[in-house]
Amino acid sequence: MTDIDKKSLIEARVNEGLRGQWYPVAKSVEIKATRPYGAMVLGEKLVLWRDGKGKINCIEDFCPHRGAPLSYGEIHEGNIGCRYHGVIVDGEGVVVRVPAMPDCALEGRKALTAYQVTEAADCVFVYVPSVLQPEAPELVLPKELNSDDWTGFLCTSVWGANYRYALDNLADPMHGCYLHAESFTLAYGSKQDLMKLDKTEAGFRIERVGQSGENFDWSEFEVHPGNMFCFLDIPYPPAAGPGGVFRILGFALPMDTRRCKVFFWRMRQVTGLARESFRFLYRARMEATHWAVLEQDRVMLEGMPDDARRREMLYQHDLGVSRIRQILTRAAKSQIEAELSQAAAE
Ligand code: FES
Ligand SMILES: [Fe+2]
Repeated sequence: MTDIDKKSLIEARVNEGLRGQWYPVAKSVEIKATRPYGAMVLGEKLVLWRDGKGKINCIEDFCPHRGAPLSYGEIHEGNIGCRYHGVIVDGEGVVVRVPAMPDCALEGRKALTAYQVTEAADCVFVYVPSVLQPEAPELVLPKELNSDDWTGFLCTSVWGANYRYALDNLADPMHGCYLHAESFTLAYGSKQDLMKLDKTEAGFRIERVGQSGENFDWSEFEVHPGNMFCFLDIPYPPAAGPGGVFRILGFALPMDTRRCKVFFWRMRQVTGLARESFRFLYRARMEATHWAVLEQDRVMLEGMPDDARRREMLYQHDLGVSRIRQILTRAAKSQIEAELSQAAAE
């Protein structure tokens, strides 16, 4: 293997999405005991469903018989039945029954990969194992999701752009006062500044030098052994009701190399009566505004060519963008090296 081959494997891994990560795949309410749910994760089709006790199963969305999507099927007593010829598979990916054929040899065979799943903060996360980390490390969530003082809403959206663009966008606070200049909350502040980048305990913080508390002025990334996420604050005018800033917690799922699914929790630190009034106001008034802002991001990122990085000319404001890319590339490098040495040992 030449250095060039290795470099292109690393680049491809960054593009496809890191392995060894917990990824959010759906809202909890979307995974039911009555109907399977198909998800696309790092180019793999997966199917999720709940058994009778509410436990979530996740296996490859591929019928062991002839490959029909199990997500088109039905749930039978906690297992999943293929719609095509009725084969039934359990949550471990073992064929339980072949109803069309008595004493079929497929019964009892482990045919499909099963994935570890966990549920937290109204969201379902799936672990994509790597050679380095076959077993899932702890999923570390933003502290606001484990706190009684914060309340919020999870919103998700599928974007027709590589997940790298979603992360770059989050590591780029300077786009706020341009792309979102017309919006309710993001129209403030100066349009010129310098950026600075600081290391934090678990990642980094990118912020505007000349202004804070006016707009989307900073963002922070936390990188943990089994997942990463971003957070940022949007200052809110008094008309938005009680509570301080609006905190956005962002995760991105690489669906395949051309699509990602973003998960944003929109949080505020409010308790008691203020909490109820915030939740009401959000639903009644603010949610639509926030969707409009998110749409501006989606449209912009979808309009960018997939290989823009080959021609782009970064400047000082892209410190955060460079940093997140460096983090992804380093992680991809150690994953590829581990895979290569495992392959060499076999
Ligand atoms: S393809 Fe699923 S039962 Fe035949
Ligand atoms: Fe944005």
